[in-house]
Amino acid sequence: MKNTNLHKAKQAKNDEFYTQLSDVEKELRHYKEHFKDKIIFCNCDDPTWSAFWEYFHLNFKELGLKKLISTHYDAENPSYKLEYEGGDDNDIEVGVKTRLLQNGDFRSEECVELLKEADIVVTNPPFSLFRPYVAQLIEYDKKFIIWGNNNAITYKEFFPLIKENKVWLGYLANKTCVFRLDDSYEKYDEKITAKMNDGHKYGKVPAISTFTNLDIPKRHEKLILWKNYTPEEYPKYDNYDAINVDKVAEIPIDYDGVMGVPITFLDKYSPEQFEIVGLDRYTVPNEYLVGVRVAINGKPKYARILILEGDNL
Ligand SMILES: C[S@@+](CC[C@H](N)C(=O)[O-])C[C@H]1O[C@@H](n2cnc3c(N)ncnc32)[C@H](O)[C@@H]1O
Repeated sequence: MKNTNLHKAKQAKNDEFYTQLSDVEKELRHYKEHFKDKIIFCNCDDPTWSAFWEYFHLNFKELGLKKLISTHYDAENPSYKLEYEGGDDNDIEVGVKTRLLQNGDFRSEECVELLKEADIVVTNPPFSLFRPYVAQLIEYDKKFIIWGNNNAITYKEFFPLIKENKVWLGYLANKTCVFRLDDSYEKYDEKITAKMNDGHKYGKVPAISTFTNLDIPKRHEKLILWKNYTPEEYPKYDNYDAINVDKVAEIPIDYDGVMGVPITFLDKYSPEQFEIVGLDRYTVPNEYLVGVRVAINGKPKYARILILEGDNL
């Protein structure tokens, strides 16, 4: 196999892990009001095992959904879609199965047509395709709740969406999640797999977050600040005019200027309380990417989001 093919195959294999129903439920319970009368599309989901399909099917009537659609991706072959419009919520196999001419790639014409029909897209998409996946949701102006790696925040394509308040974190923020793995995976967590005892393999994946553009109460909760600013505790960066804050809980209540905070800040971010100015790190600056890795006494910091607070907005 050529090196690039090998790389692609490895990437594709790394995408095969499946969200547990309990994790889906924990997140989606906060969005009930958004689902009423809506068409939900799970476009990276084989309905025979997807917990997203299962959740929406089981709760179809309870949520007052209009329709549920799921498409399954099969790299090599034409695939299928499954559609459900209610009737027998508990039997998750109930639905209208239709063959697709293409392979169910979320970018294929057939899947884009379904995307246009849908109101809200909910899934855990392949992490290796996170950038094009999000770009497509934005292009078609869709509402969504998607799972991803927390580091996506620092992608130069994704960060501007966060900064412009077009996307924000859901309830799951930067947590280690247990996923079911493809049966062919050799690396898996033996302890968890033994505990689950259902014939499948399981593994932990760190730094998982959900991202959404649906309004949720969490986004409007004010972070209670209590520390006062002192120049000793909050030194300025060598190479950027902002103070450094190492812990989100220690953002000073009374600093009148730009502050650099860890990216975990976004879990506490409310646009009524803070404004996001930019992100450090990239050597090529653009409107929001500052173009330096901020440092103190010559030591670079981990990624920092640059913010303004309260009265300075
Ligand atoms: C991280 S897994 C999650 C699967 C499922 N959404 C879940 O949460 O259990 C991502 C899935 O996307 C599928 N996938 C990979 N490339 C795809 C593509 N181009 N279009 C649609 N699905 C794709 C993979 O086969 C994989 O099952």
